[in-house]
Amino acid sequence: MAASTSAGIAPAPFGDEHGPFLCGPYAPLGDEADTVLELRTGALPADLNGVYLRVGPNPRFAPLGRYHPFDGDGMIHAAQFAHGRVRYRRRWVRTADFDTESAAGDAVFHGIRETLAGDRARPLKDSANTDVLGFAGQALALWYMAGAAYVVDPITLETRGTLDAVARSRGGCGHISAHAKVDPVSGELLYFDYGAEAPWMHYGVVAPDGRLVHHTPITLPGPRLPHDMAFTARYSILHDLPLFHDAAALARGRHKIAFHADVPTRFGVLPRYGGDTELRWFEFTPCFVYHVVNAWEEGDEVVMVGCRYVPVSTADGGIDGVATAQQIAQLVMNARLWCWRMDLASGATREYPLDAERNVEFPSCNGQLAGRTTRYGYLADQHDGVVLQWPGLAKYDLVSGARLSQWSSEPAHSWYSEPWFAPADAATAEDDGYLVAFRLDARDMRCTLEVLDARDLGRGPLAVLDLPGQVPVGFHACWIRAADIPAWA
Ligand SMILES: [Fe+2]
Repeated sequence: MAASTSAGIAPAPFGDEHGPFLCGPYAPLGDEADTVLELRTGALPADLNGVYLRVGPNPRFAPLGRYHPFDGDGMIHAAQFAHGRVRYRRRWVRTADFDTESAAGDAVFHGIRETLAGDRARPLKDSANTDVLGFAGQALALWYMAGAAYVVDPITLETRGTLDAVARSRGGCGHISAHAKVDPVSGELLYFDYGAEAPWMHYGVVAPDGRLVHHTPITLPGPRLPHDMAFTARYSILHDLPLFHDAAALARGRHKIAFHADVPTRFGVLPRYGGDTELRWFEFTPCFVYHVVNAWEEGDEVVMVGCRYVPVSTADGGIDGVATAQQIAQLVMNARLWCWRMDLASGATREYPLDAERNVEFPSCNGQLAGRTTRYGYLADQHDGVVLQWPGLAKYDLVSGARLSQWSSEPAHSWYSEPWFAPADAATAEDDGYLVAFRLDARDMRCTLEVLDARDLGRGPLAVLDLPGQVPVGFHACWIRAADIPAWA
């Protein structure tokens, strides 16, 4: 498909008979684009060079039945900041399943809400629609259910195949979950997969030259639905959460989930190159965790800061597991910034909210300090139950929990993409840089790219640029520095 530009809102290629998530802010685009953005207000910082990538679902063909945002083909939107101008591109990730449907000229795969054919399971599409991250000068597009690691040129957005190291693991059937991590010091990719077969999880390390340098099974009590992981300079932290697939439904290929209020949340601390027997599990109060902000070591303690999903309460103050699972399945997010501490010497644990009041998610920090002590976190702010609508941005002190600054343009109408911290070219402090995000204004469905001063979000955008049409609501983003991209020009 040839690249093209669109001057206005691209029409949704199909109607709303498949449910609410193909309309309005979620409406997919029917084309790709490559254009230089016009500055609406402000001025672009001269010391901001790199690329902001955001991936999300964008079905190319009309779905077969009911549609869920997890189903759509992954499309990456890129804003390349170079020499005082911004070039915007969007392209589908050319996954094997995208190519299969393209060859057929129609949808072939059913979505997660249509997984049963009689008593038989229908295969889901590995869409690479969930997360995008920078690894070894390239971008990886990843899928939440654990699939292939699609390698994408971070500038042109051309798909270059899959990461061999992951594909060769597990005897050639290796997968990678959406939230893998890259150590900024070693350049290694740390990842896990999960699935419906024992031992239920695997963990691996890929060197920046592409070699698989470590891979081990991780034995869980059964099939689980972990979403993220964390790491420190010496350890990886794996998640065993009380959110399970319903075993009987899963055996029939149906993706029904249950939250078990009587089962603790466990985090497993593993030496980076350790095996299953070296994993130490630490128990915490039952919760689901979508996303980690960062983790680090403090003496004997491993500290992890993340967004703790708030279970739905019953009238007597207990946990309503059914309602909690339904909320999670429906992508209604209700999370609090939280700290978990694990003492490797004593085995003791502590956990506490950093902000017990506000609903925040889609976090980032200074990626140059991933796995190391960080003071600042940047999050999408104050979700109010509308699926994937985040009307603001917030900066937190990850130690005290103080809300340091915040920003929203017209919060009643704003839909921000996952904000990502972009360091200044010659940064001298942890927050010396910018926060970058797309913003959709639901009043006219116009999209802008906003650049804020990470030291004080309350100043408002330093620069606002107009986008050619809508960036549909999506999932995760990243920032890749120009200095980390060999092909930068
Ligand atoms: Fe995620």
